[in-house]
Amino acid sequence: MCGIVGYCGPRRVVPVVLEGLRRLEYRGYDSAGIVYLENGKLIKHRSEGKLSNLEMIIDSAIIAPAHIGLGHTRWATHGAPTTNNAHPHSDCSGDLVVVHNGIIENYHSLREELKSKGHRFSSETDTEVLAHLIEEYLEDDLVSAVKEAVGRVEGSYAIGVLWTGLPDTLIAVRNQSPLVLGTSTEQGTFLASDIPALLPYTNEVVFLDDMELAVLKADSFKVYSLISGSLLDKEVKTINWNAGMAEKGGFKHFMLKEIFEQPQAITNTVSGRINLESGSVELPEVNFGKEDIGRIDRIFLVACGTSWHAALVAKYWIEKFAHIPVDVDIASEFRYRHLLVNDRVLTVSISQSGETADTLAGIRLARKLGSKVITICNVVGSTMTREADGTVYTHAGPEIGVASTKAFISQLAALFLFTLFLAQKKRTISPEKSRELGKALIDIATVVEQELPRIQADIVKLIDNFYDCRDFLFVGRGLSFPIALEGALKLKEISYIHAEGYASGELKHGPIALIDKEMPILALVPQDDVYQKSLSNVEEIKARQGRLILIGTEGDSHLRKLTEDVIYLPKVPDEMNPILYTIPAQLLAYEIASKRGCDVDQPRNLAKSVTVE
Ligand code: G6P
Repeated sequence: MCGIVGYCGPRRVVPVVLEGLRRLEYRGYDSAGIVYLENGKLIKHRSEGKLSNLEMIIDSAIIAPAHIGLGHTRWATHGAPTTNNAHPHSDCSGDLVVVHNGIIENYHSLREELKSKGHRFSSETDTEVLAHLIEEYLEDDLVSAVKEAVGRVEGSYAIGVLWTGLPDTLIAVRNQSPLVLGTSTEQGTFLASDIPALLPYTNEVVFLDDMELAVLKADSFKVYSLISGSLLDKEVKTINWNAGMAEKGGFKHFMLKEIFEQPQAITNTVSGRINLESGSVELPEVNFGKEDIGRIDRIFLVACGTSWHAALVAKYWIEKFAHIPVDVDIASEFRYRHLLVNDRVLTVSISQSGETADTLAGIRLARKLGSKVITICNVVGSTMTREADGTVYTHAGPEIGVASTKAFISQLAALFLFTLFLAQKKRTISPEKSRELGKALIDIATVVEQELPRIQADIVKLIDNFYDCRDFLFVGRGLSFPIALEGALKLKEISYIHAEGYASGELKHGPIALIDKEMPILALVPQDDVYQKSLSNVEEIKARQGRLILIGTEGDSHLRKLTEDVIYLPKVPDEMNPILYTIPAQLLAYEIASKRGCDVDQPRNLAKSVTVE
């Protein structure tokens, strides 16, 4: 989704904004632009494609002695990803510019109205309407003009505005699209769609809420409510991420670095939350007591993309250990179906970013219907964490690769903790079992750490025969089924190979028709409680000459009889298999995409944080 960066302060603005945009590249975009104020004039540069194109055309501007400006990476919604549609967009005079993330739903009628008043449009975007609308209301008070303009707008927006008439000030407004301020006495004041853009300069941030307007100057900021008009006393939060965490650190891609950070992500998520002597799990931010649990007779897990796969795994865990029925929903479906949600339902959203529009809308709806809401989230202070009744933070650190890896693994760790927490409160597991499972979760970080380099080497050896195939199937049963879905998603998103995940038992209801000697099938066959059933499904594939890759348990010599391409993993408690078996699936996708020369970290058309519906 689009990325916004704004700065005013003692530094030269162009390098600050470019660096910020670079750190937001992971969000996904297809054009970029920058504007700065120099000698009373707005200088604007825009280009199609990657940020490097923009950097090329503004080479000389890097040293411009300008100290206030805005930048934007655009993920096209209204209008093709051309230079002309790239932000910033200007009013008729060229003295006012706007950058915007979100969608202006009533832009068509506003555009017609503004045209009839003589405004001249130069792009196909919904955003340009904002620039002209502000111009329409602007006399000498920019804040009032912005307020009036956004009062006319329907939809979601995060916007940044700069006007030559107020040369030391940036205005920002948020409604349903994330925006965060950064503040530092030495470095100045910053505006961004997400925290990584701020990390080189400051860890002190202020999250804007919906319907808030911020006035930024080099040495101060003020935030007003657009509803009451009053000045707000916003909390400045300190983020414990550093700039280095959002850098590649010697790895070829962020995705590979993040795969290798997974043992640490598990440890960080689990540490301090399990008492291994008593077996008890403590989740203080969850705000959910024994009485709350007593009232719950159903749980809805709501998420999108990879986070939805984490929810699918959690269903197996929660039903088995906490004995509560669980429904798992894709957020965009949840929000539009007839929901049987009430105060006996607990809704749990799972989201790396805490900003995904559909998931956010889902939890808002569930709350309205009386449900308590808990969020499993990676970004401290994100919208979901502020709106939920309680949060279980994952501690994966910033995830930059668009394809989610360490966030997924830490979601699994957090959801397993949450399962134990529920089961303990409901007394559906014994303290001994709690200890055993808690220990299994702690230990899995070490197993993953030890096995990662060897698994990568095994994958690299086998992909020569698979990297140029057209299709791929991933199959698994029980806890391995969601991992098959996740493996297929990883492969399709970063390598553009068509891939499908299936429950092994479903093969004969359709996909088996696809199997011939050309079709690669990765089957997850750990020696778990459904091992024999999984094996029968693998035999069915073999009988039809499918090209099998098997991922199974060390010492299972039978697998070698079925195919040469076996990746062995150590035997761990069954409940931990989803965490362990995800690793080869991720690495297979990564190595294939990398060998195909794909843009692994920023796959085409995808966005990291999907803040529009
Ligand atoms: C996008 C990302 C996925 C992610 C999904 C949900 O599609 O590309 O990697 O799983 O959004 O994001 P969330 O931040 O809610 O987990």
